[in-house]
Amino acid sequence: MAALTGKVAVVTGASSGIGRAIARRFAQEGARVFVADVNVTGGEETATMITEQGGEASFIECDVAVPEQVRAMIDRAAREGGKLTTLVNNAGVGGVGKPLEEIEPDEFRRTIDVNLGGRRARMAPEDADRAHAAREAKAAMQPIGRQAQPDEMAGAAVYLASDDASFCVGSIVVVDGGESILHNIGPYF
Ligand SMILES: NC(=O)c1ccc[n+]([C@@H]2O[C@H](COP(=O)([O-])OP(=O)(O)OC[C@H]3O[C@@H](n4cnc5c(N)ncnc54)[C@H](O)[C@@H]3O)[C@@H](O)[C@H]2O)c1
Repeated sequence: MAALTGKVAVVTGASSGIGRAIARRFAQEGARVFVADVNVTGGEETATMITEQGGEASFIECDVAVPEQVRAMIDRAAREGGKLTTLVNNAGVGGVGKPLEEIEPDEFRRTIDVNLGGRRARMAPEDADRAHAAREAKAAMQPIGRQAQPDEMAGAAVYLASDDASFCVGSIVVVDGGESILHNIGPYF
């Protein structure tokens, strides 16, 4: 039997990247998946990818920063999918580069504005060079010597959502290529 047979999962931020990889792997493992995201095009694409491969998925448009939309999304998922077993809170935007508890409300709003407000600057070639250099530098920080692929996050998510993790309560699974060990720091939150 597949690892997630009978599970009904909501994966937020599943229009791209890690969330999409998790949604696809969950479906491959037998879960019924609800793809929740503000990005309609990407979200529908993820759901289509899953159904075309024989999995069960629906897209629900949802901005996780708006409580009414989250409630409506969860209500719809429960109505259509039955008892929800799994919620992957993956949606998010980067930017301020510090722990959640240190982010001021105005910084948080600014991050949302910058990332979702459509004020994105076009990337110039020199920016691309800098971005490449930054990625190389970040990869060098990790003992494994490279950055992760989205699917490398999905394996841990499958385990945590499965019955194999039945005694994992409040557990933290670190998937960071060894970075936290190298720098003797805890996982990022
Ligand atoms: N990639 C990394 O190195 C890394 C490292 C640490 C943490 N993370 C976190 O992992 C998660 C996924 O990262 P990723 O690299 O796949 O990023 P990504 O940008 O590819 O995916 C983020 C997804 O969240 C969605 N999203 C953003 N704001 C939303 C909102 N308000 N409501 C609903 N959906 C929203 C986006 O549309 C997108 O589909 C994010 O929360 C990110 O902060 C990523």
